[in-house]
Amino acid sequence: MPPRPPLVEAAAEVRLRAHAPYSGFKVGAAILSVEGHEHRGCNVENVAYPEGTCAEAGAIAAMIAAGDRRIAEVAVIADSPTPVPPCGGCRQKLAEFADPDVPVTLATTSGALLHTTVAELLPGAFDAGHMEGSA
Ligand code: THU
Repeated sequence: MPPRPPLVEAAAEVRLRAHAPYSGFKVGAAILSVEGHEHRGCNVENVAYPEGTCAEAGAIAAMIAAGDRRIAEVAVIADSPTPVPPCGGCRQKLAEFADPDVPVTLATTSGALLHTTVAELLPGAFDAGHMEGSA
């Protein structure tokens, strides 16, 4: 396998720390912020299943807690047959902090990469502009 791009490697490293005893599906996510720092997150499941959180949500929380505010690039990795697509909720969460053209790399642990963008993942995103002028 050729060396992984650095942000994918960061996602692969944090994936190993996932808490996924219920699905058995570990996911890692890494964000490069516009401010120039790397932030990592993994999925954290809960016995009360809906309380679990996705890797992307963890990486976003780490970025915000560290004081950064905008996403420049994202990588997500899992041991899936094809590059793992973020869930619908995570697409909306990423769109909160990323411009539409922000690159997103979706990866498998066996080395497949799919390059996409926030806009491709969430076309027609609801944003603050849709609330303009509302009473
Ligand atoms: N999961 C993520 O962390 N990110 C994704 O993009 C897809 C799904 C997690 C949630 C849950 O812990 C497990 O994968 C199975 O759905």
